[in-house]
Amino acid sequence: MNAVEIEEAVSLLAEQPFEAAAFPYAFLEAFGNKATTIKRLKSGSTNKSDLGGVLQRANIHIKVCDEGEVASTLDALRDSPATAQQKARFILATDGKEFQAEDMEGGETVVCEYPDFANHFGFFLELAGISTVRAIKENSFDIKATGRLNKLYVELLKDNPEWGTEARRPEMNHFMARLIFCFFAEDTDIFNGEDLFTATIEQMSERDSSNTHEIISELFRAMNTKLEDRPAGKFRPWAEVFPLVNGGLFSGSLEVPKFSKIARSYLLHVGKLNWTKINPDIFGSMIQAVADDEERGALGMHYTSVPNILKVLNPLFLDELRTKLDEAGDNKRKLLNLRNRIARIRVFDPACGSGNFLVIAYKEMRAIEAEINQRRGEVDRQTSIPLTNFRGIEIRDFAAEIARLALIIAEYQCDVIYRGQKEALAEFLPLEKANWITCGNALRLDWLSVCPPTGTGVKYRADDLFETPLDQAEISFRNEGGETYICGNPPYKGTKKQTPDEKRDLGVAVSDTIKDWKVLDYVCGWFVKAALYANVTTCKYAFVSTNSICQGNQVPVLWSVLERLNCYIFFAHTSFKWKNLAANNAGVTVIIVGISKDKIKSKRRLFETIEGKHIERGVDNINAYLTASPDVIVRKANCRSKPLGEMKLGNQPYDGGFLILSSDVLQGLSLNSSQQHKFTRKFMGSSEFIKGSERYCLWLDNESLDEAIEIKSIRERVDKVRSWRLASSRKGTVAMAKRPHQFCEMNIGTHSTIIVPIRSSEFREYLPVGLLGKNSTVNNLAYALYDSDLFNLSIIASRLHLIWIATVCGRLETRFSYSNKMGWNTFPVPKLTKGNKSDLTRCAEDILLAREAHFPATIADLYNPDKMPENLRQAHERNDEVLERIYIGRRFKNDTERLEKLFELYTKMTGGEQ
Ligand SMILES: C[S@@+](CC[C@H](N)C(=O)[O-])C[C@H]1O[C@@H](n2cnc3c(N)ncnc32)[C@H](O)[C@@H]1O
Repeated sequence: MNAVEIEEAVSLLAEQPFEAAAFPYAFLEAFGNKATTIKRLKSGSTNKSDLGGVLQRANIHIKVCDEGEVASTLDALRDSPATAQQKARFILATDGKEFQAEDMEGGETVVCEYPDFANHFGFFLELAGISTVRAIKENSFDIKATGRLNKLYVELLKDNPEWGTEARRPEMNHFMARLIFCFFAEDTDIFNGEDLFTATIEQMSERDSSNTHEIISELFRAMNTKLEDRPAGKFRPWAEVFPLVNGGLFSGSLEVPKFSKIARSYLLHVGKLNWTKINPDIFGSMIQAVADDEERGALGMHYTSVPNILKVLNPLFLDELRTKLDEAGDNKRKLLNLRNRIARIRVFDPACGSGNFLVIAYKEMRAIEAEINQRRGEVDRQTSIPLTNFRGIEIRDFAAEIARLALIIAEYQCDVIYRGQKEALAEFLPLEKANWITCGNALRLDWLSVCPPTGTGVKYRADDLFETPLDQAEISFRNEGGETYICGNPPYKGTKKQTPDEKRDLGVAVSDTIKDWKVLDYVCGWFVKAALYANVTTCKYAFVSTNSICQGNQVPVLWSVLERLNCYIFFAHTSFKWKNLAANNAGVTVIIVGISKDKIKSKRRLFETIEGKHIERGVDNINAYLTASPDVIVRKANCRSKPLGEMKLGNQPYDGGFLILSSDVLQGLSLNSSQQHKFTRKFMGSSEFIKGSERYCLWLDNESLDEAIEIKSIRERVDKVRSWRLASSRKGTVAMAKRPHQFCEMNIGTHSTIIVPIRSSEFREYLPVGLLGKNSTVNNLAYALYDSDLFNLSIIASRLHLIWIATVCGRLETRFSYSNKMGWNTFPVPKLTKGNKSDLTRCAEDILLAREAHFPATIADLYNPDKMPENLRQAHERNDEVLERIYIGRRFKNDTERLEKLFELYTKMTGGEQ
């Protein structure tokens, strides 16, 4: 169940008459527990309560009590040994009149009248596996409103299918935006009279809903008519009382979809919510899914938490404004200068969704301005921060509509907080006629037109808010001469996940600037466009992105160009989880990169999570891999310098499958043991090595070919390889038909082979490397070092090497993806003495021996992080200890230090080339 569905179920339960015996189960059901789980609890088999209540392990201990005993029952639940033993997260007591609950982790409580408990459903969302953020717990209005509006939206589309067509969807979305505005306005005295909008519809429309659309349309007409034009408009008295709102919101078509009885009652239901509680930043993100048929299942889930947004905005510019505020103290002139500066700041989010970054930026800037006004003794002063300085581009029209509305609501709410309700109301209507959110494709639009720098690029002025074609937001800023800050979390989309259209968008945005752009993630388009924009404006920018753009093969492609465009990373957050409300959502791993076109004088800010702790460091430089190291880009190297061995990709078959043999097929060849020994080998790739599965191959050298093809079963397979290769459209494969008994390469260790699989789970703490005997050959899903010294294995098995590979080779989805040219040939190693080599050889032997002790456990078993055998772990620890001492004379403190050292050595190693 998603949060919206849970809210609905909980509200339904709260509306029903209280039934003491059934309540605990109904409560758990409302939070998504399955019928079988409830059945087992009812039967007592999983109910662990020691108080005659219902205790679900790791979740909740509920007890229904006699009237007036709620507080003492909650005490009993808190003290109950079963609550502690079963690790109940929540305790809950109710008598049907009063409701009390406590979160055993944070100690927070809910105390309310029974029917009100539904308003606190956010408090219990963890019961459904949804980890909530504080804002939702404290204010579940946004989820509730999203759920109600969604019902209305779906019902209206049912009654008016033509409004759901591509042509009319924008109109439908615009209608919803109008409704949301009216609901907010009627609860905040913007409309004069309590619940004026909802009450008017309830009273004036027929109960059978037949004229609901006409009534609403008439109200919209009034909101679009100036007072002086009202007499000519011949309004009915009930419409006459509505103010002029407009600003484009109510101009244009006044057509309203028709309402069924159900839709009408949904509308009244939504209207009765208390819309003063709306959080424009949260609500906007949640409501977006309403208009998206595919996304609707995740309704209310897409919510970007305010602390995450502040991770972008604070270091980008807000922290600096706050520092200036501190420095200004009570100096009126300095405060005035700061206020003037703030008034000219433009914030631009070119993938703004429902505008949450813009809303938060606006609110934070208003808070700083309010403090200035307070210190200057001008608390009543009208704000100097124009909404039109908050620009956005958004491709989906509903989100763009909501973004504008969210900003309008945020402005009103700030006015109420900082200046008072009366002042807020006095200046709120009519809405300003300016279009500052552009609906369009950010990778195809000219950012200089959408967000023009001072005095240039303004082509024409839009004359209203909602009626101007949405791609024409080309208006100048109210206050000239300021800085621009670009921010947001644009769509990430790796190269393989991009649709053809998105690929073309990316091409349009970056192909003039970057040659090999096709390997790049979609989000790179925003970085490049921002870099180009910053080169002709006064601007800094910061985006949230997947960490793939700072790892592996994207780094040389993207960052060498960004460096040429004078991009200096002045702050960065290294990888962290960007969560939303989706149940069991592990969240995507993201980074935040803040870029300035000028080298900043102060230290750069590097935010990292080290061993679970969030740490900020001031560092001299942040490079493209987001480490505090010199600017260096790791590029593929074709060979490996000594003393490490040469690593080659395994043998590529190009054989149609006829040289490769499963165990059964091998049996079917009917070879005697000497023939088997002579003509076949174990065929090892990633899967065979890691999971221990067995495959074989024909391995025929030229000398023994004649003898081999005497054997019919071998000859037939060789013939089939020949035919398959001849039928290929690839020239190289056809050429290989001349030696059909062989692989493309015929590399094999005379004594031994070190195997390194290409792909490996990111959960393993070490890369899976192994040693094969001479009866095995490696296929092209792994790399091999043939007859190399064993200390190579020690290096590949080290933490140091894993960190390097994870950083410079990048990943396939989330798995490590090894590359010899990118990861092995570039790996910096200090000079190794004879003694070092023999120490490392011993460590490698110890690792292999430790594995042997668990025969026949596979590599997958042995390196399962939860089950790794202690002796193996210790062998790796010793290996790391010995290797790291060679690097710096002691163990590294953490991976950050490892990486910094490796980059330092790499810079030295490649010195002149970088
Ligand atoms: C990850 S969301 C972020 C939105 C918002 N900041 C939030 O946190 O909810 C990315 C947004 O970019 C929009 N988008 C995707 N491709 C776009 C494009 N080419 N141009 C403009 N916006 C785009 C999506 O519709 C979506 O609203």
